[in-house]
Amino acid sequence: MAEADGILLGSPVYFSDVTAGMKALIERSGFVSRANGNVLRRKVGAGVIAVRRAGSNHALSSINFFFLITQMIVPGSSYWNMAIGRHPGDVLADEEGMQTMKTLGENMAWLLQKIHA
Ligand SMILES: Cc1cc2nc3c(=O)[nH]c(=O)nc-3n(C[C@H](O)[C@H](O)[C@H](O)COP(=O)(O)O)c2cc1C
Repeated sequence: MAEADGILLGSPVYFSDVTAGMKALIERSGFVSRANGNVLRRKVGAGVIAVRRAGSNHALSSINFFFLITQMIVPGSSYWNMAIGRHPGDVLADEEGMQTMKTLGENMAWLLQKIHA
């Protein structure tokens, strides 16, 4: 993460939030960033959520709050960054979700190119 220009964090939704594993990553890397001169500052970050039914926005917010408090820059998309699916590969059938991810990728790449021009 310290070496990356852009960081994508993805999680399924467990009890309307990110998984405990993702929360552990957020807590440890956020602490380490702060303790080392805010190493995540001005990196570009996007959260990506897979959800069976409900809680995607709450889970995405958990990731976005992490990006914002670490002074990262967050691009948007044509919808919130979520796609619907229960089993691996299911999200591919969510046409709007796939378009959201495509637009997100384009906006993230555009932003990274501007920052590093
Ligand atoms: C413990 C647990 C809690 C879940 N909570 C939610 C939930 O709050 N909302 C939802 O839409 N789906 C929920 N699901 C369904 C998952 O989002 C969905 O099955 C996901 O694809 C699981 O990803 P995984 O196979 O990587 O664990 C839950 C699944 C598990 C195992």
